[in-house]
Amino acid sequence: MTGSATAASLLESIRTRRVRAGVIGLGYVGLPLAVEFARAGYVTTGIDLDAAKVKAINDGRSYIDDVASEEVAGLRAAARLSASTDFDVLSELDTINICVPTPLRKTKDPDLSFIVAATEEIATRLRPGMLVILESTTYPGTTNELVLPILERGGLRGGKDFFLAFSPERIDPANPTFGTHNVPKVVGGLTEDCTALAGALYEAAIATVVPVSSPRVAEMVKLLENTFRAVNIGLVNELALMCDRLGIDVWEVVRAAATKPFGFMPFYPGPGLGGHCIPVDPFYLSWKARQSGFEARFIELAGAVNGAMPHYVVSLVTDALNGVRLPLNGARVLVAGVAYKRDVDDIRESPALDLLALLHKGGAELSYSDPHVPTLDGRLWPNGIDLEHVDLSSAGAEMYDCIVIVTDHSRFDYDVLQRAGKVVVDTRNAIKAPGPNVVRLGAPRTIVKEPAFA
Ligand SMILES: NC(=O)c1ccc[n+]([C@@H]2O[C@H](COP(=O)([O-])OP(=O)(O)OC[C@H]3O[C@@H](n4cnc5c(N)ncnc54)[C@H](O)[C@@H]3O)[C@@H](O)[C@H]2O)c1
Repeated sequence: MTGSATAASLLESIRTRRVRAGVIGLGYVGLPLAVEFARAGYVTTGIDLDAAKVKAINDGRSYIDDVASEEVAGLRAAARLSASTDFDVLSELDTINICVPTPLRKTKDPDLSFIVAATEEIATRLRPGMLVILESTTYPGTTNELVLPILERGGLRGGKDFFLAFSPERIDPANPTFGTHNVPKVVGGLTEDCTALAGALYEAAIATVVPVSSPRVAEMVKLLENTFRAVNIGLVNELALMCDRLGIDVWEVVRAAATKPFGFMPFYPGPGLGGHCIPVDPFYLSWKARQSGFEARFIELAGAVNGAMPHYVVSLVTDALNGVRLPLNGARVLVAGVAYKRDVDDIRESPALDLLALLHKGGAELSYSDPHVPTLDGRLWPNGIDLEHVDLSSAGAEMYDCIVIVTDHSRFDYDVLQRAGKVVVDTRNAIKAPGPNVVRLGAPRTIVKEPAFA
């Protein structure tokens, strides 16, 4: 710390839990963070535009699988956690974490409108001594070039009158081992004071804090992590396509390679990327690089390979149906799992949506089964139709022409799934003892072909 009186007094208030903490955006990232701050002893206020989320919290209910309702109810009862749709509560807060969405526009350009809107709400209520931390994933430079100028519009100076930092969120929904409290938190402030103050706030709630020299570095750390995943998934997806041609089982190859105790980390192929992060964040980086005339070739290549995987899955479906002399047009196809990953209810950017659109275009009669997603709004996919979850375990479940396993939820009964389809396309290697009616992505085809003329 440089020893400025404002910074020293804020540090003291953070350490003694006297600051009032706030979180803007109470989604998958913001709610768990608000709960950790409240658990750590801070009186915490969450702000969201979504009145239903605000009501749920104030009623002591959680709407995020990783946060228990009992926890929210307990923190409500202890008067440590509350929520509001009214931004005027910001003027009573000392620290504010911004956890709003950062999607891509249709053109694959970053959409920072949510960050801008949240920052403008803070700017009109900014007081000397406030600490603002941006957590939304974004391109390097956002904190300095976009957030800081908005906050300084009223004349207060960042790093002197108020404090500003970037700290990426690294949450992994449905991960039973790592949650908000025990994933190390990277923190890069505008100044040393900003880093120290943000670090002190997180230290109260999160096991490890990793300070870095600037917001730009912290922003880039997150994009490196997610680009690393996108590129490696792209590599293994390409390997799966290669293995399909060569008649080699990619799953067996990855499993054996993963026995190397150093220098290798397993990634698994699949039907395409999903979720709010991996298919989106690398394009924030390539967009920013392009502004400086730099072409991020790995990112674009991985994007092309991963983006083509749903088309490959459709080719597996048509080949499998062909094996039993059925055309895709008119075939009854059930997609098993529409959430973007195992055991979550999040369907944002899910490859299942692309797959449904392609199968629908090919004339398939579609159904889906996903115990985490009771209904699927047709507006989520091009020319979509509204669908409802089909429970395959219920007695009398009908026989489908093809089952496509897109998400390997642990609640699925894979024996039932295998029996429910004349053919089954398994894109996740989820069926442990596949019968002759199963085609696995990236593995030799085993479907027994019915003769064309019996
Ligand atoms: N979900 C993840 O696994 C994950 C992991 C790491 C990082 N992130 C990043 O964290 C950020 C938030 O993601 P998320 O998954 O929590 O999103 P989310 O959609 O679950 O939640 C965002 C919340 O912000 C609210 N909101 C939007 N604009 C607002 C505004 N102006 N004022 C107040 N509230 C507003 C929305 O109503 C919503 O409740 C994104 O940048 C994302 O990339 C997400």
